Amino acid sequence: MFISDTHLPQCLPAETYRDPEWYQREIEKILLPSWQLIATTHEFKKEGSFVTRELFGRPLLLRQEEGAIHGFVNVCAHRFSRVELRTCGHSDVIRCPYHGWEYDGVTGDTQKIPDAPSFRPLKKGELGMQVVRVETCGSLVFVCLQEGGTSLREYLGDVWDLLETRTGRPSAMVAHTVDQSVCNWKIALENTLESYHVGLVHKKYLGDSPEEVDCAHVMQPGWTYFEGPGNESKLFQIVQKFLLARIGKETDVRYSHTYVYPTLTFGRVDGVTIFWVYIPIALDRVELRTIAFCHQADTGWRRFWNFGLRLLAKGEAVFWRKVVNQDMALLPDIYRGAKSPTLPSKGLISRREERIPHFQKWILQQMGENPQPTGESAPSDSVCNT
Ligand code: FES
Repeated sequence: MFISDTHLPQCLPAETYRDPEWYQREIEKILLPSWQLIATTHEFKKEGSFVTRELFGRPLLLRQEEGAIHGFVNVCAHRFSRVELRTCGHSDVIRCPYHGWEYDGVTGDTQKIPDAPSFRPLKKGELGMQVVRVETCGSLVFVCLQEGGTSLREYLGDVWDLLETRTGRPSAMVAHTVDQSVCNWKIALENTLESYHVGLVHKKYLGDSPEEVDCAHVMQPGWTYFEGPGNESKLFQIVQKFLLARIGKETDVRYSHTYVYPTLTFGRVDGVTIFWVYIPIALDRVELRTIAFCHQADTGWRRFWNFGLRLLAKGEAVFWRKVVNQDMALLPDIYRGAKSPTLPSKGLISRREERIPHFQKWILQQMGENPQPTGESAPSDSVCNT
């Protein structure tokens, strides 16, 4: 059942989706202070394994050394070249390709400077790569670009245990893809928060929008949750249930979707957990990182069932990629409409879309703005004010 009795207001003014200054403030106030799911421990197989990423315009290097993953801004302290040019791989040492400065893999301090006397006077450890906070939960690697602030455990709060259980060993990662769309990041995320469009956009894969009696919404400070009907395929469910039972796990018969503000969403169904992380890379461009995990067994003969579980989970991940691709194809046109200098109304949200005003109110609060509804027809005791 839905929580609200009435329709709800559009809380975010249209300018917040298209104004470059607002976007810069979002980076400072919302995105830099929060944790971003950016990689998995599966990508760090041994000492020296690394990946490079870009987050809010900052090039990053994540690299394993002394058994832990360390994060740096991937920029040389000498004359600002990118230090690691590859997207992933292995390196014995962090060395800039321009003049050969080398950096400590834990502290980021300069370790070796060719022709060092010509830089006199320079104290040891005075220059280095900028360190970035990295923490893990299960197999998930998170980065926070702001010093201090909350720990990852504090940030994830109630969902920490769930994510640790679903992605820690002996789970398996069965998919990891990256896509982009021309769209403001908030529009992409709002699309994930409602089942209103399902019956039209996803009818081929998901059928009609679920009935209200089949839905449940939970809204808490910092996150919301949807639960609805699961996989329609009885055969798939039977096989999945059989395999999961062999390793002592239960099937998620119903589908659930959780959104931890501001960029982390994940769905659970049939023993598979799929993360959809929407990272803004410009005012009008968003990157979608999709990572899927499934349950596995790690002892004895039960490993026999792992292969079957991974196979089904890969099929589930492919299925959901098709569903999400339908959204990604639509997003540029939704955004193009929202960018119009004149709009036919201030927008209106249905009860089925009630997770959206909750998210919008959170955005306004983080930005230090008054979370009042913008819709003239909005009820005065709407979600924006709860
Ligand atoms: Fe890196 Fe010169 S820019 S060593």
